[in-house]
Amino acid sequence: KSVLLSILEGLAKVGVPNEVLEFLFGWIEGGGSYLRIPEAKGSIQAIRSVAFFIPLYELYLTYGGIFRLTFGPKSFLIVSDPSIAKHILRDNSKAYSKGILAEILDFVMGKGLIPADGEIWRVRRRAIVPALHQKYVAAMIGLFGQAADRLCKKLDVAASDGEDAEMESLFSRLTLDIIGKAVFNYDFDCLSNDTGIVEAVYTVLREAEDRSVAPIPVWEIPIWKDISPRLRKVNAALKLINDTLDDLIAICKRMVDEEELQFHEEYMNEQDPSILHFLLASGDDVSSKQLRDDLMTMLIAGHETSAAVLTWTFYLLSKEPRVMSKLQEEVDSVLGDRLPTIEDMKKLKYTTRVINESLRLYPQPPVLIRRSLEEDVLGEYPIKRGEDIFISVWNLHRSPELWDDADKFEPERWALDGPNPNETNQSFKYLPFGGGPRKCVGDLFATYETVVALAMLVRRFNFQMAVGAPPVEMTTGATIHTTQGLKMTVTHRIKPPIVPSLQMSTLEVDPSISLS
Ligand code: HEM
Repeated sequence: KSVLLSILEGLAKVGVPNEVLEFLFGWIEGGGSYLRIPEAKGSIQAIRSVAFFIPLYELYLTYGGIFRLTFGPKSFLIVSDPSIAKHILRDNSKAYSKGILAEILDFVMGKGLIPADGEIWRVRRRAIVPALHQKYVAAMIGLFGQAADRLCKKLDVAASDGEDAEMESLFSRLTLDIIGKAVFNYDFDCLSNDTGIVEAVYTVLREAEDRSVAPIPVWEIPIWKDISPRLRKVNAALKLINDTLDDLIAICKRMVDEEELQFHEEYMNEQDPSILHFLLASGDDVSSKQLRDDLMTMLIAGHETSAAVLTWTFYLLSKEPRVMSKLQEEVDSVLGDRLPTIEDMKKLKYTTRVINESLRLYPQPPVLIRRSLEEDVLGEYPIKRGEDIFISVWNLHRSPELWDDADKFEPERWALDGPNPNETNQSFKYLPFGGGPRKCVGDLFATYETVVALAMLVRRFNFQMAVGAPPVEMTTGATIHTTQGLKMTVTHRIKPPIVPSLQMSTLEVDPSISLS
């Protein structure tokens, strides 16, 4: 090897271009049989000025499915190739940890299920997954319906008063109300009130998002922790949430103690169907800190993600009236004015395809983060231990090589009677909920939640971008946010009559007659 390196030095001296030398060096370094990963150099400024996954998309078009992005001494591997994504997430998942993500989220999630690795993750995953069983998810449909109904009542007022609604923050409140009840039986009721605890949740969330895009971890500087008013506010918010969670755990423990408990696979307490209740009833033997970390993880994982899906779905629909009409037609014929049930989930096929397609165009989160725990080979390139890796789901979902009309919002690309698209049946080019052992535990929950909310809202209202609304641009935290909200004009729909579809064909019905 050293002889070859001396030859390279010689070639450099006689003016052989750098690109050629780098190629040869990579070849030698990899033992002769491997190539060196294409390399792009970036400036932190360029990445911070826009949603960071956008420049990564441009670089992907130039450098391909795997490249190295270097900022000074730091470098990241950017993966946008389905088979490499499959290798990291599924086939060789044991060789990867959550890396930077676990470091950033430590202050809020500790060793909760998203950041945890190794044995802790394995044990917690085994305890938590059974809690989201079929009967639990079915019971949640009622909760989704009631919460969406409260949002409809709020929009009723806006529509009657002719006031525009900022949908992004309303969706954030809707999904916080839902996840609080679903995970630990707590009524945030934030569609109606702004209590201290709601503000505390948002303080912590914003902090987590800011940390995930901060170039320097100032929060690790010892003195900073004590003097920064912002960090003091974050710590106070964390204390309030932790105290509330401790109270909820204590209340739930008392309920479980008083219950005549017969625990079985699909166990659910009708009064309190929450995940916390299931965990305590199952005899989950865990420290209260770990339990709190898991509850907090699920609160965050299941809140902003679903809110972002709804936000971008409504944005996409506002640009495609054709899709909106087709969606409303389906919802009218399946639901009428009823609250949705679990049986309706199979019938709301087009509604589900709208959510599938919205998740393709706006994946939440847009990148998945990993760190290599050992040497590995990605595609044709060897990598070392300790590489930080971003799998760009955004790039996979918008690749012109992998999709026809990749940027077009077209729910019809998913056959109505075909299987629900997922990472397996789409060969890892579609990863709305990740894949492999670390796949989202709330995928069905979240799909039903967004389908129910979407169906109930479009059944009652029409939505248009408000006149003079700020342009809808993207910014990133953990999920994709709008820069200035999603301001929409909401109007009551003149609903068509609700007639079971069988009679529709035999009776002549005047569609202009409204029942409401
Ligand atoms: C993991 C997406 C809703 C709980 C994930 C991952 C994705 C994801 C992509 C994989 C992360 C990775 O591999 O690094 C979403 C989306 C949602 C959603 C788009 C809404 C539309 C939920 C809900 C819950 C939840 C409602 C809780 C009830 C979790 C947990 C993990 C996870 C605990 C970590 C699993 C593990 O590492 O073992 N989610 N999620 N998510 N999600 Fe979700």
